Amino acid sequence: MDKIKIDSSNAYLYPMPMVIVGSVVDGKPNFMPVAWVSRVNYRPPMFAVAIGPHYSSRGIEENGEFSVNIPSISMMERTDYCGLVSGVKRDKSEVFDIFYGELENAPLIEECPVSMACSVSETVEMKTNQLFIGEVLELYSEERYLTDGNPDIEKIEPFTLTMPGNRYWAVGSSIGKAWNAGKSLIKKD
Ligand SMILES: Cc1cc2nc3c(=O)[nH]c(=O)nc-3n(C[C@H](O)[C@H](O)[C@H](O)COP(=O)(O)O)c2cc1C
Repeated sequence: MDKIKIDSSNAYLYPMPMVIVGSVVDGKPNFMPVAWVSRVNYRPPMFAVAIGPHYSSRGIEENGEFSVNIPSISMMERTDYCGLVSGVKRDKSEVFDIFYGELENAPLIEECPVSMACSVSETVEMKTNQLFIGEVLELYSEERYLTDGNPDIEKIEPFTLTMPGNRYWAVGSSIGKAWNAGKSLIKKD
C-alpha cells in the first residue's frame, strides 16, 4: 500500500461549493461567503452552514433566520470581498441588490441565480464553529437559470473553493447520470 498519512487539519472536500450567507445584524443586511455548507435533510429541505465567531452569527442567532445564495462566476470578486471585510467595520448591505421573501431577516441576493430563505430549526455548538441548521422555506430563481423548471448548473455557473491553497474553481462538465452509471454492475441473479 502506497498510502501516507497527511495533515488531518487539511481534511476538506475537494471542491467545496461556494455560497453567500445573508443575515440581518443590528437591523442591517450583511453577507459573508461560506464554503462549509450542505443540504442535511430530505423532507423538509434543510441546509446547514458551519459558521465561526463572525458578525453574521449574531444576526442569525438573534433572528433565527438566514439566507443561502448561490453566486455565479461573474460574482467571484464581490463574493470574495465579503469574506475579506467584516460587517463590524464595513457596511456590506449595498454590495448586492437585495430582495426579501416572507422572512424579513433573510436578505436574498437579486444577482444570485439561486437563493433560499431559511428558518433556523437547530443550532449545534461545535468546538470553534456554530452549525446553523435551517429549514428552507422559500427557494427563488429565474426562468433564465432553469431547464424544465429546475435550476440548471450550466446556466447558474456556480464556483467552488479548495483549501488549503484557497483557490476558486469553475465546475467541469457532466460525466454521467447518477443512480444510473452503476447499473451495469448490478448482478442479475
Ligand atoms: C472563500 C471563503 C470561504 C469562507 N467560508 C467560510 C465558512 O464556511 N465559514 C465561516 O465561518 N467563515 C467562512 N469564511 C470567512 C467569512 O466569510 C469572513 O470572515 C467574513 O468576513 C465574515 O463576515 P462578517 O464578519 O461580516 O460576518 C469564508 C471566507 C472566504 C473568503
